Amino acid sequence: MIPKETVDEILETSRVDEVVGEFVNLKKRGANLLGLCPFHNEKTPSFTVSPAKGIYKCFGCGKAGGAVNFLMDHEQYSYPEALRYLANKYNIEIEEEELSADQIQEANEKESLFVVTQFAAEEFVKNLHEDEEGRAVGLSYFKERGFRPEFIEKFKLGYSKEDWSAFTDKAIEKGYNEGYLEKAGLTIIKQEEGKEKKRFDRFRARVMFPIQNISGRVIGFGGRTLKADKKTAKYLNSPESDIYHKSKVLYGLNFAKKRIVEEDNCYLVEGYTDVISLHQQQIENVVASSGTSLTVDQIKLIKRYCSRITILFDGDAAGIKASFRGIDLILEEGLNVKVVAFPEGVDPDSFASEHSAEEVKSYLEKEAVDFIAFKSRVLMKDTENDPLQRAQMIRDIVQSIALIPDPITRSVYVQECSTLLDIDEETLMIELNKIRRRKLSKSIQEREREEESSENLMLHKVDTKTKEDPEEYQEKDLIYTLIKFGGQDFKLEGEEEEDEQILNVSDYLVDEIMHDKLEFKNPLYDRVFSLFVKAREEGRQVMEQELISNEDKSISSLAIESLLEKYELSLNWEEKHKILTISEEEELPKKIHKGICSWRLKRVMDMILQKQEELRVDPDNYEEIQGIIKRLEEAKKALAGELGRIVLPR
Ligand code: CTP
Ligand code: MN
Repeated sequence: MIPKETVDEILETSRVDEVVGEFVNLKKRGANLLGLCPFHNEKTPSFTVSPAKGIYKCFGCGKAGGAVNFLMDHEQYSYPEALRYLANKYNIEIEEEELSADQIQEANEKESLFVVTQFAAEEFVKNLHEDEEGRAVGLSYFKERGFRPEFIEKFKLGYSKEDWSAFTDKAIEKGYNEGYLEKAGLTIIKQEEGKEKKRFDRFRARVMFPIQNISGRVIGFGGRTLKADKKTAKYLNSPESDIYHKSKVLYGLNFAKKRIVEEDNCYLVEGYTDVISLHQQQIENVVASSGTSLTVDQIKLIKRYCSRITILFDGDAAGIKASFRGIDLILEEGLNVKVVAFPEGVDPDSFASEHSAEEVKSYLEKEAVDFIAFKSRVLMKDTENDPLQRAQMIRDIVQSIALIPDPITRSVYVQECSTLLDIDEETLMIELNKIRRRKLSKSIQEREREEESSENLMLHKVDTKTKEDPEEYQEKDLIYTLIKFGGQDFKLEGEEEEDEQILNVSDYLVDEIMHDKLEFKNPLYDRVFSLFVKAREEGRQVMEQELISNEDKSISSLAIESLLEKYELSLNWEEKHKILTISEEEELPKKIHKGICSWRLKRVMDMILQKQEELRVDPDNYEEIQGIIKRLEEAKKALAGELGRIVLPR
């Protein structure tokens, strides 16, 4: 558990623009920041961040929230994970450094996996630098490869010892939980019938490459054997876990993202060593798919940061044709693809190790060719002078062009293809349109199916909406006012001018409602209200971030919804809104007065109904109940009269 004061400190310190800015490329636009929404596909930015308000909102898909919500939505963090991330980012200490075995078990599942994985990363680093075997075998291997100390440190490279269970034994001794060690893929547990349980280290006698997520937390490992033995796999990787999803991770992205944005280009390589060697030669916008074929999720990840991918291919042609599928996926996502091929037997790693930074840079720039030129060059070798194969090759290339979503880009490629393969443009266009039509009719069918199911969803939504008690709007109004304007002051007018008072909105509302001993019928509103009561008792104000980033998801959504209403009405998400709308705040005193009166009136009317009901079942008490009803009726009249005098412009 993170102490409440620390949570408050984290929420107070965190800046939504800084947090979102780690993941989304934001550009200044007036008082706000604007970028491409990371939650849906878009070409023109509609994702807006207001640093002043501590809120982001996408005007395309409607996603909105504060720093914590962003991390939960975007990184799939749990609430405590998001807080820990922020604490780390802002150097706020959480008093939890030394975890006891019990506490480790208590901490939630994912966080525990992070904890054991982080421990392993530290152990492997220690082995590499402090252990005799680690230094003699691991460190000297890296040095021999030309990895410089600062890069060994930067990439947190390590070593796992040649021992069946050195790591696991140490971890258990330190109190780390066996189950989590197993789930994180670090320990293999074998239990044979009638025999004692045995624990083994997964990684033994390997140099270790920790795999980090976008925010730099270690989520898994790749380990390279140093033995020439053919039977041992060269690389051994952590298995999938709750924190490591291979298809959604790109090695090196945490170090590369900034440069990728600046260059608007991402180099894609195959291996860990390619990434590190290129970094050593000052090419930092590089990520690796780590030996697996590229997935759509990985492409979408890159697309958040840039619009161009350059694939770097090893000299051995084996994997090249298999990569065409990956190129098609990239084109389909609307990204621009280029390819750089290396000579026979050379990979980006070896090339970078044998050339200067300038040479590497200029090679990558000069050799980068368009995917069409690349694909034709590769396929051309097969076709020789066989016209049938040539036709197939052309169709193959046109098929790729047809995947590009943007029509202008498509026609540019058709032109290029026409020159390159010496075929007239029209023929290519006809072929292209045929493919697109086929694709289109397929996607229309799919969309129709989708729409059908979403219509059902809509019906369902309308259904739940009507179920919401329509009479609760007075409560809703009051709670919205509390959330939106709770921290502000307003002028309470009295009979005489000197009775005028400046009061804090939430203090006033809390006192009034508590004084009447009235309760909120809606349990969610009641929970929100009690936060304000508690703060009033503690003599402080409820922070907007406390609500927006509340652990209780329904409180958080309610707060976001009402605060957005406030900002959209009164402030400029976009410049043009500036001139609009009479500010709700100007009418605040009236609004508060009206809110509290309507709510009271509603309650009084409820009570009248209740008493009338009592009268029906209990006619013996006629006099007494009738007396109460009479007083209630008077209160009702007074309140209605009061309400009638409040004129709010609509
Ligand atoms: N890989 C893997 N499992 C293997 C072989 C390779 O996961 N058995 C992945 C690793 O991520 C590796 C990448 O594929 O980094 C590229 O493989 P390869 O070219 O064989 O390795 P290099 O990175 O070139 O490593 P080295 O130079 O150390 O041989
Ligand atoms: Mn290599």
